Amino acid sequence: MLAIVRRHVILLLAFGLLFVFRPELANAAGCWTAPYSCNPGGDINPSTAATYEAKYRAYAELAWRDFIALNFPAKTNPQGKPEPKPSKVHGLDYHAGDYTAVWQTWPEARDIFLAGAAVPAAFGAGHQTPRDCLRKDASGRIELTDKIVLDEYVQAERMGPVIDKRGQYVRYGLNLNQSMFEYIAAHQLYSAQGQAAMDVNNPDHDKKTVEFPVGQYSENDDPAMTGSIFVKSSWKILDASDNKLSFYRTQAYVYDQAGGTFADEPTVKEQCSLKPIGLVGFHIVHLTSSAPQWVWSTFEHVDNGPWLNDFTFLLKRAYTFFDAAKCPASGGLPSCAFDTVPAEPWNPQRSGQTPTQLVRLAAPGKLALTVNEQYNHRIKTTYPNSVWANYFLVDVQFPTNVKASGGEQGAAVPNPAYPDGLPATSFLSNSTMETYIPGFFHGQITPSSNPIPADDQMQTLPPTGAVMPFSSTGPHTVSGGADRTTSSCVSCHSDAAMTTGSSSDFVFSLSRAQSKDKTHLRTLRMKSGGDTGGKVLTRHDASSVVEYVMGASKPEEQAGK
Ligand code: HEC
Repeated sequence: MLAIVRRHVILLLAFGLLFVFRPELANAAGCWTAPYSCNPGGDINPSTAATYEAKYRAYAELAWRDFIALNFPAKTNPQGKPEPKPSKVHGLDYHAGDYTAVWQTWPEARDIFLAGAAVPAAFGAGHQTPRDCLRKDASGRIELTDKIVLDEYVQAERMGPVIDKRGQYVRYGLNLNQSMFEYIAAHQLYSAQGQAAMDVNNPDHDKKTVEFPVGQYSENDDPAMTGSIFVKSSWKILDASDNKLSFYRTQAYVYDQAGGTFADEPTVKEQCSLKPIGLVGFHIVHLTSSAPQWVWSTFEHVDNGPWLNDFTFLLKRAYTFFDAAKCPASGGLPSCAFDTVPAEPWNPQRSGQTPTQLVRLAAPGKLALTVNEQYNHRIKTTYPNSVWANYFLVDVQFPTNVKASGGEQGAAVPNPAYPDGLPATSFLSNSTMETYIPGFFHGQITPSSNPIPADDQMQTLPPTGAVMPFSSTGPHTVSGGADRTTSSCVSCHSDAAMTTGSSSDFVFSLSRAQSKDKTHLRTLRMKSGGDTGGKVLTRHDASSVVEYVMGASKPEEQAGK
């Protein structure tokens, strides 16, 4: 009897302690639900009022919920390797912000679209790591690592790199979640042949045949209802001048392939090293039942650069991509040229390159600010030192005009009159990812002569002509008529296509799929130089490379094959 009482007391004490030190609550599935969930939401609540304000707010909240859930520390297996599930023990303050987040265990685009259209490894198996990055263990086996590989440093549409104060290039990564990966794997969309098969009844390639899984709202954020999410991350290579503890940080293989990202810059040599990196920007794109054009959101670190407004005050803080000593305020404006595309050749290994002077022009809208405050408060009250209090939602872009149903499980479908869904906000950019196309200036009009909506107006600049967004690559035809001096996630991504030329449902990386065909592969290799020392790969070789890197068999066995 006494023993039972004592056991109860101990249990009570244990639970008591749990509640004192762990204010979060676990739901039935064992995942955290408060003060934030460790699972992404599947959609906004369908009972959200049909007003613009209510929807805007709900999508901004969804963006924050996704941001937090994706950045939860990943669960670890008995060997201590991260797995693509949120940890049930560690919170957002884990290891002072230095850990592997859930989304980093998702395959990167470079893990999916392999040479020779080889079959990608299973979800959560780890990342395809270039041989040059890897060490062999004593048995000669190549180590498969959990580290992401950052091989990109030029912004989308070849808009150029961002260079930090030490001359290091910002690096970019693309990851796809399980729903997307499984859809791609099931339909073999990792190969040009699989994409052609998808389009077999679409000979003119004018219809969208790719239909990624759609997220559904559920009260307890059921992970089975999440739907498709893809992300793009931007990273700074951390150095002695950085306030490291302010960043979410981890280690990654920073990899330059010979010839650079597009294999067209001979001054770039193959190079790889494991480096400490800090997150400076994060795009999240989520396909939900209410948003057939996906929900687009982007987050930034607070210290990336000053706002234009800050120049009317004293620039006190040190910024990551802005050196106030070299660009003091003059008459309330920067005294230097800013947001200028770096001179070519773009080679991250070249020394003496001019750092980017990054000034932020696109400010969060009113409602994004409100939701930022709400989440910032939630994070700070739970974990006063969490790095996540240093990130904010720049804004969210979601469709405002869709047909309420017609899709699978009653999902909304595009309104044929507005294929892009008339997105709001009209423009959205991240200062580290769409640096050179931030948006319009006040008073400008779109090429179709529409005024810029008040929400999207840039800060007013005197008409000096000194600062202009990067020049346009041509008019864009989606409704709204904005050309590419501005960044609209939806408008630009609605051009994304498969290798057949038909729509890839807004996902650009599907165009990376290669052919299983030897002849095609040969031309491709000869054109790009490749990373195989110029050797022409056959289908068999290509899959060997994959197995070899994945550590499925020893290098000696590969050689004997
Ligand atoms: C000027 C055109 C353009 C704009 C504007 C743009 N993107 Fe992209 N984005 C691209 C291209 C091109 C890629 C593909 C890069 C690759 O495959 O290496 C890409 C890649 C991505 C990816 C990785 C997955 C993929 O392959 O598509 C995400 C996530 C993403 N963008 C989100 C956004 C968000 C969010 C915005 C708005 C804040 C945005 N993009 C604005 C052109 C654009």
